[in-house]
Amino acid sequence: MVVLTDRRYGFFGGGAIAEAFARRLIASGVARPEHLIVHDLNGATLERLVSALGLAGAPGNRAVAEQSDVLFIAVPPLDTLPVLAQVRTALRDGQLIASLAAGVTTAQIELAIERPLPVVRLIPNLPSWIGQGMNPYCLGRHVNPGDGAQIRALLDVFGPAVEIPEDQMAVATALTAVGPTYVFPIVRALADAATERGLSPDVALSAACQLVAGSAALVAGAGRPIDALASMIGIHTLDEAAARRLFVAAVSDAHAKVEAVTSKVAAAAAAAVAGCGCVLVERLTWKMACEIVRRMLPSSWSHMSRASRLYATSGSWWP
Ligand SMILES: NC(=O)c1ccc[n+]([C@@H]2O[C@H](COP(=O)([O-])OP(=O)(O)OC[C@H]3O[C@@H](n4cnc5c(N)ncnc54)[C@H](OP(=O)(O)O)[C@@H]3O)[C@@H](O)[C@H]2O)c1
Repeated sequence: MVVLTDRRYGFFGGGAIAEAFARRLIASGVARPEHLIVHDLNGATLERLVSALGLAGAPGNRAVAEQSDVLFIAVPPLDTLPVLAQVRTALRDGQLIASLAAGVTTAQIELAIERPLPVVRLIPNLPSWIGQGMNPYCLGRHVNPGDGAQIRALLDVFGPAVEIPEDQMAVATALTAVGPTYVFPIVRALADAATERGLSPDVALSAACQLVAGSAALVAGAGRPIDALASMIGIHTLDEAAARRLFVAAVSDAHAKVEAVTSKVAAAAAAAVAGCGCVLVERLTWKMACEIVRRMLPSSWSHMSRASRLYATSGSWWP
């Protein structure tokens, strides 16, 4: 049986999704507030989260890495690899890396931490706040069966989680991470429409919420096609074809945005490698690349080693 309550949970970044996850860890009884350690570059954000939830604020990401067993990466995608390079030497065996960052691959994370730690990359979504999230995930290559059980137990805290191939993460992000922004306007429009026609605002909002939640639960649980369920209702007034076009376009646009983020992260990673005089080949580890360079260019090896140490201490994300 997996025990989650004896861990310390760290957050790199204390923004919206870190807050949702921290709130859920506390409300579910998995962690006491003081066992959640967070650092955010933005002092006001950090202060707000620490005082609202009673978390332990850390002066830097390295302190988070040193004090935590499970490390949630909750900084913006382009900050993810630099943060991992910053904390790399503070990591230790036995830790779990849980990345919430859109568009950053498990291979990029493994390359940046240079340590065979288990990595899970998940697509968080905001309803995780109340344990009703939908968090698709994929696993890094150092996850053993014991780690896998721990990861699934942890993800269950936030809601249903489904393992998917990593090449489907972008489209899943467009669906589930962005997803609440598709549903919130429906709830609001339905509640507003009913309020304008005389229903009290409170009743209208809770009725709209239950309507959306109940309809979705019916689709998930009734075992009948959506059309068959819809045909059981006598009055249809929504232009369903127009609604469909609207949502297909929204998911498609979100997918393109996530793909663009993925490309930016990959380009930044490649540029960082190029800065060290190396060519990044996908999934080729830094050590392997170094070995190739060492064999091809023995005379420049000492310069590269020195440059590597310089970069590491200067705050650049690449060694
Ligand atoms: N929100 C969601 O529903 C959602 C869903 C799926 C995935 N995600 C992923 O989750 C991550 C965080 O998203 P978010 O919505 O929580 O963003 P957010 O609200 O902007 O929070 C990110 C926080 O990280 C801080 N930060 C930036 N660089 C940092 C560093 N080097 N060290 C420590 N803190 C740093 C930011 O500070 P500044 O504001 O000063 O830059 C900001 O306060 C992103 O990678 C995103 O792709 C979020």
